[in-house]
Amino acid sequence: MNLVKMYAEEVSLQLNGILQLDEVEKLIEKPKYADQGDLAFPCFTLAKMLRKSPQMIANEIADKIKNPIFEKVQADGPYLNCFLNKQIVSKEILQTLLKDGSNYGSLDIGKRKNVVIDFSSPNIAKPFSMGHLRSTVIGNAIANIAEKCGYRAVRINHLGDWGTQFGKLIVAYKLWGSDESITVNPIKELLDLYVKFHQEAEVDSKLEDEARAWFKKLEDGNEEALQLWKWFRDESLQEFSKIYQLLGVHFASYQGEAFYNDKMDETIELLKKKGLLHSSDGAQVVELTEYDLPPCLIEKSDGATLYATRDLTAALYRQEKYKFEKALYVVGHEQSLHFKQVFLVLEKMGYDWANHMEHIPFGFILKDGKKMSTRKGKIVLLEEVIEEAIQLALKSIEAKNPELPNKEEVAKMVGVGAIIFHDLKNERQNNIEFSLEEMLHFEGSTGPYIQYTHARACSILRKSHIDLTGLNPEGLNDDYSWTILKMLMEFPSVIQRSFNQNEPSQIARYLIALSQDFNKYYGHVKILSEDQEQESRLALVKVVTIVLSEGLRLLGIEAPEEM
Ligand code: ARG
Repeated sequence: MNLVKMYAEEVSLQLNGILQLDEVEKLIEKPKYADQGDLAFPCFTLAKMLRKSPQMIANEIADKIKNPIFEKVQADGPYLNCFLNKQIVSKEILQTLLKDGSNYGSLDIGKRKNVVIDFSSPNIAKPFSMGHLRSTVIGNAIANIAEKCGYRAVRINHLGDWGTQFGKLIVAYKLWGSDESITVNPIKELLDLYVKFHQEAEVDSKLEDEARAWFKKLEDGNEEALQLWKWFRDESLQEFSKIYQLLGVHFASYQGEAFYNDKMDETIELLKKKGLLHSSDGAQVVELTEYDLPPCLIEKSDGATLYATRDLTAALYRQEKYKFEKALYVVGHEQSLHFKQVFLVLEKMGYDWANHMEHIPFGFILKDGKKMSTRKGKIVLLEEVIEEAIQLALKSIEAKNPELPNKEEVAKMVGVGAIIFHDLKNERQNNIEFSLEEMLHFEGSTGPYIQYTHARACSILRKSHIDLTGLNPEGLNDDYSWTILKMLMEFPSVIQRSFNQNEPSQIARYLIALSQDFNKYYGHVKILSEDQEQESRLALVKVVTIVLSEGLRLLGIEAPEEM
């Protein structure tokens, strides 16, 4: 039921073709205050066209609209305000939602086309940083939302598994490494080796040369180098998998930078053929002066390729393999220039699809106002942070609901959900202050608040003992439920906006507002009193649980039924 469209039809019927239906539809607004009705049509545009006052026009049309779904249409100054018939409309919404279940809000704008989402992408042999956490959480939510919009989401983890750091690691390993400690604690051990290399290299300049030589060997396919590389990669990936498992994130591909190693010659040839490659100080570059940007470095003077070369190659590969409709890169601000350059080089190569690529940056995670760093030994190990969140959640649950049977499982949902929600509730470009205590509150704009609201609604349904399957509820007439019902109607457009803007925060904020409305309802209306409207009230509670849990799912958060 598209009420905006229905209202637009009524209005345009009165206009004898002065404005087209879609023009009327675009003008319709949702008033801020309840006493201004549910939909409003501003008459300013018409006033200009007809050289009449907008007040007059509103007055003229108001009396003529007679449709039972619009209980009252009245002129309010230059606006034509429309009050929906709560009984009819709420009945319709309740029935639709009960029927659609978690499919409610699904859209068909994607037509099963592919959206490739490059996210998380940590670097092998280095810790999983707070930035990678943000990328993981935001990227996964965008992928879920894309699927809800009817796209196929291809989740790609473009691992940082190639580059000069592997030369350094091999040298450090050969000098100071121990197999056993690497196997036991790979990320920490490899990071220590990496740090030690830099300390020693400051005194002993030969080390850098050796590292370069080992990386060259690696690029040339030297057996020993490859074996070590593969071992470091496997060990690190196993560590990362623990985090992905905790967060409930999975990928279609882990093809990282190394995967493109043998495919880059082709890219370089292609650039040459198209006459785009120029020498600059011995290096090969693509000039971007016409865009006022520094050149994109393709090949160093010693023949080594660069990050950008690998991303260009990856883009070509992905277009060929997935024929993507959109390619998204969820990566921090610091790499804005890099992605601008990569997209422009592809455009210069003549690929139209370069316009369908987007860099999706996000802000930093701060602790006491300072960027949370994983460098210089001050590492925050993410796995430990997540475990701590789960422990804190467990404590709250034990205090609130000691009898809960599957406490540990629920604590995991709540702890992880708290971290994810805290990340997604503000526009992604903002920095976020990381406070476990705050994000785990059961009140306020937190994940646990929404999960708790959902669980509370589920518990009402359990208590009622009324079977809601196949129920054909009547409508509801009170203002509290009306506020909720109007929110529920908004869900599909919130999803669409969230996708268009690559902004999961749209959904997060929506869930906070819906939870607040529901808790008001819960506080003011006796849901379980046995009267004629009980079934309808329970239907309302049921559809609220549907939308809350579906909204949380889109963000990558689970919704326990009891907590
Ligand atoms: N590994 C990189 C980093 O940690 C991020 C890779 C992002 N994806 C890409 N296709 N460049 O900084």
